[in-house]
Amino acid sequence: MKRYIKITCAIAVAAAISLFVKSRWNAWFGNIPEEPYTAAEAPDRIILTPGEQFMSQRTVSWRCGDTLEPSFLTLTADGDSVTLQAAGTVVESRGGRDAFYRVSLDSLQAGKEYSYSVSTAGKRSAAYSFTMPQADLPQRQFIFFGDVQDGFGGPSGKWFAKLYRKFPDADFWACAGDLVERPIDAYWNYFYSTADSILTTMPLITATGNHDYLKSLYPSIDPRWRHTFVYPGNGAETAMGISYYIDLPDLRIMVVDTHGINDCITLTARYRWLRKCLKEAGDKWKVVMYHHPAYSVRKSRNNLQIRNTFVPLLEKYGVHLVLQGHEHGYMRNIGTRGDHPVYIVSYMSPKSYPARPESPEFKVIGNTPMYHTIDYDNFKMEFRSYAVENDSLVDHVGISRLMTDSF
Ligand SMILES: [Fe+2]
Repeated sequence: MKRYIKITCAIAVAAAISLFVKSRWNAWFGNIPEEPYTAAEAPDRIILTPGEQFMSQRTVSWRCGDTLEPSFLTLTADGDSVTLQAAGTVVESRGGRDAFYRVSLDSLQAGKEYSYSVSTAGKRSAAYSFTMPQADLPQRQFIFFGDVQDGFGGPSGKWFAKLYRKFPDADFWACAGDLVERPIDAYWNYFYSTADSILTTMPLITATGNHDYLKSLYPSIDPRWRHTFVYPGNGAETAMGISYYIDLPDLRIMVVDTHGINDCITLTARYRWLRKCLKEAGDKWKVVMYHHPAYSVRKSRNNLQIRNTFVPLLEKYGVHLVLQGHEHGYMRNIGTRGDHPVYIVSYMSPKSYPARPESPEFKVIGNTPMYHTIDYDNFKMEFRSYAVENDSLVDHVGISRLMTDSF
């Protein structure tokens, strides 16, 4: 009889597991199909990203056709022009082939305006411009937002335009990942239709999110991602170009790829890399950005590997601000070093998910896509949260820098 009960229980457990796996199969492993496409035979998807040294380095990337052709960037400043040869790569996706190009610019001068155009096989883009930031500003500002994941015809284009209009002098935009709904050409096209007139000028610093990955047992980043968003090659060994850091005069922003953490090897590599970055950052303002939050807006979700691995580092090295996404709700909580680390989860997407109830420990705001301004000087950082629909200030927290060195 006992044996019979045991066998029945085992069958019931196996059936329950099977049903659960079946119900989650699509969420875990199902990629939406990508329709066949042909990349345009003229430069498009032109993006400006910062190099490791924010004040003097930029990279311009673009796409053109599906075979490598002679490609150049022409840079003009003070009436003088220089033409630089681009490096190219052909990328195979599930729907087609894209040739991507990049040119990295060094020794750019603070405060100077540059204009540029790119060309491939003789086909030249429009001219764009950017101005390098002033070096000695008493206060600096950048803009942060979380997941965008807009559907076709959604509000993100209007939101991006407003952000640029309101804060044209911000140093950069930071995004915690999931810029697109799914990594297929149609969504990439849509994203560029909403943002490319801005991202040719405003440097973008973005993390990877799960929607930038193709699902599988070992998810892989969309092959277009690294060639579109070209970041410094100063990342962890297993995450070159998707984990990286960028230095400003008095601030280091460290971006960690969290969706590619599939095993102990990748987790250890990112941990060691982040620890080194934090040590080297010294007494700068320290901002860390990644996709999967250490503390969940939805109680049912937990990213324990992030909380147990990264949080002790963030606390130990006195990180001031932690920017996270993924959960389509807003939450702020504060760590154990006086008034920081300040952990933020946010999103700027038409999709909202249910949020946990507010508590003394966790400031929570649901159903309110937001953007954030971060203003900092030598002593103080001000983090402000605005509802993107009506620009109302919904949260505000100050962070003091002096706390960092007193532990
Ligand atoms: Fe996500």
